[in-house]
Amino acid sequence: MEKREMLYEGKAKKVFKTDNAEEYIIEYKDDATAFNAKKKGTIEHKGIVNNKMTSIIFALLEEKGIPTHFVKMIDDTHQLVKAVEIVPLEVIIRNTAAGSVCKNFGLEEGVDFDITVQEFCYKNDDLGDPMVNNSHILALGLAAQDEVDVIREYTFKINDILKDFFIKRNLKLIDFKVEFGRLPDGTIVLADEISPDTCRLWDKDTNKKLDKDRFRRDLGEVEEAYQEVLNRVSK
Ligand code: TMP
Repeated sequence: MEKREMLYEGKAKKVFKTDNAEEYIIEYKDDATAFNAKKKGTIEHKGIVNNKMTSIIFALLEEKGIPTHFVKMIDDTHQLVKAVEIVPLEVIIRNTAAGSVCKNFGLEEGVDFDITVQEFCYKNDDLGDPMVNNSHILALGLAAQDEVDVIREYTFKINDILKDFFIKRNLKLIDFKVEFGRLPDGTIVLADEISPDTCRLWDKDTNKKLDKDRFRRDLGEVEEAYQEVLNRVSK
């Protein structure tokens, strides 16, 4: 499968057409941004880590009954996926307080929530990805109610599968962000990536941060953390 015209370049990936209208190729880059691209850098080998980790996790989720856009990994930095139209929502799950929820609500980082917190953000860089609720989603025409319902159902199920998967690898899943797409027939499938860019993962014994917060907060050992997560996920 050959890359054709580039459709889109995002902060961490490029999307290319292929000779098959129903499939795209995604290229994972080493570029890293944070705080809506106010902070920019590169994380060596991030493209390889995120491509490999997403491939492993999307295959696992498919096996467990979550439909995804994933077709196959092509090489170290490329994936073949089904062509989808991305639903412009960032769907966040929080098991433990960290990041923006601490800032927004004055919470202490590391405190477990008694119930799982789920948030929607409108995926729009110009607006800084603002948090939206169900009625905003319908009023802005971002998704239909039946789509919101299935997206929520899949996201909670993904959380159950991933918490179990990571804890067996001595990693605590603090929070994560997922995105969904529509196939040409309207079916909702999981899209984008699941990687240390899009999850907070802490070592279960030491609480060491093994995710993009090392880059966001200049904690050092960024490449090592990404590699460590991939090593554990590959087991
Ligand atoms: P937050 O605490 O900054 O809102 O992030 C929640 C989760 O979402 C965290 O695992 C990181 C992930 N995330 C992204 O994948 N992309 C983003 O642009 C942001 C802000 C967060």
